[in-house]
Amino acid sequence: MDMSGYSEIEERIVAPGSAPGEEQGEFSLRPQTLDEYIGQKAATDNLKVYIEAAKMRGEPLDHVLFYGPPGLGKTTLAGIIANEMGVDIRITSGPAIGRAGDLAAILTNLNENDVLFIDEIHRLNRSVEEVLYSAMEDYALDIIIGKGPSARSIRLDLAKFTLIGATTRAGSLSAPLRDRFGVVLKFENYTTEELMTIASRTAGLLGADAADEALKEIAIRSRGTPRVVNRLLKRVRDFAQVEGDGTIDMEATRKALKAMNVDDMGLDHLDREILRVIIERFGGGPVGIDTIAASIGEERITIEDAYEPYLIQAGFLHRTQKGRVASELAYHHLGLEFVGEQLAMDTGDTGSDE
Ligand code: ADE
Repeated sequence: MDMSGYSEIEERIVAPGSAPGEEQGEFSLRPQTLDEYIGQKAATDNLKVYIEAAKMRGEPLDHVLFYGPPGLGKTTLAGIIANEMGVDIRITSGPAIGRAGDLAAILTNLNENDVLFIDEIHRLNRSVEEVLYSAMEDYALDIIIGKGPSARSIRLDLAKFTLIGATTRAGSLSAPLRDRFGVVLKFENYTTEELMTIASRTAGLLGADAADEALKEIAIRSRGTPRVVNRLLKRVRDFAQVEGDGTIDMEATRKALKAMNVDDMGLDHLDREILRVIIERFGGGPVGIDTIAASIGEERITIEDAYEPYLIQAGFLHRTQKGRVASELAYHHLGLEFVGEQLAMDTGDTGSDE
């Protein structure tokens, strides 16, 4: 997977993105069927119907777009769809498909009703995206042979397939591409109960005994994300094994989370740094995202995709027309005194920062 722009967050234990090599080990922990999949109920209930109907008709499932924050199990659900349809899945990502020819090679290798999963589909370049249009609509590729006046176009038929696209930002998908998806599903952050159930399932698969209160603590600190829950759980298990009796209990959990610098709300050093910069250097905000990015030496897109969603969801940060504003909760969380009214809040939460 292309991780450009994510080099820093790969090292974060609470990063929602997957680290290189992590996917493989995680695969055995991944649910294989819709019934095993926990959470995203609105999406999975509908998918059950669409999958059943497509199977009854002997057709491929219509093209599906997943959108929402990273780490919520989009790739996992794509794998489940392929499994439930009884077909193979080919997994790739927008940045990995550099040229139209790369996509043509992938498409011509698909078998009838197969699933093609393109992660970060908003990062496909325009010439590749254009090839996708006829592939999605007509299951065909238009290939230009030759150059100049003698150039001609030939049409190559493809096997019928299902494209599953995933993106963290539905808004940055071009309209023609977005319109070609018959099913659009939004991924939501997981509740603590759902994360606890996932943690319990994972502990079972790892063969580790775990106390409910420890699973709950790990769930609370996992910022709504199964990938983080599983990662923290594995590290807690390490502490339990080396410094305890192997049981995932509160003591091992506290030790591991402290060692990883993950605080009681699941924030790591860099999350706290973002809040601290807004409060201490910019009077609590509003301050533009580019200014924050420059102040902490991170890329804007990294902050927007990997840090902000949870800080906003948990109520530490607000997005206003004039910029980001630290909430009263953020002050308290950092042990700082909250200094009065923030006029910026009156501008409303439009999500815009320009
Ligand atoms: N592991 C990771 N995500 C999961 C989910 N949504 N349900 C069950 N197990 C998971």
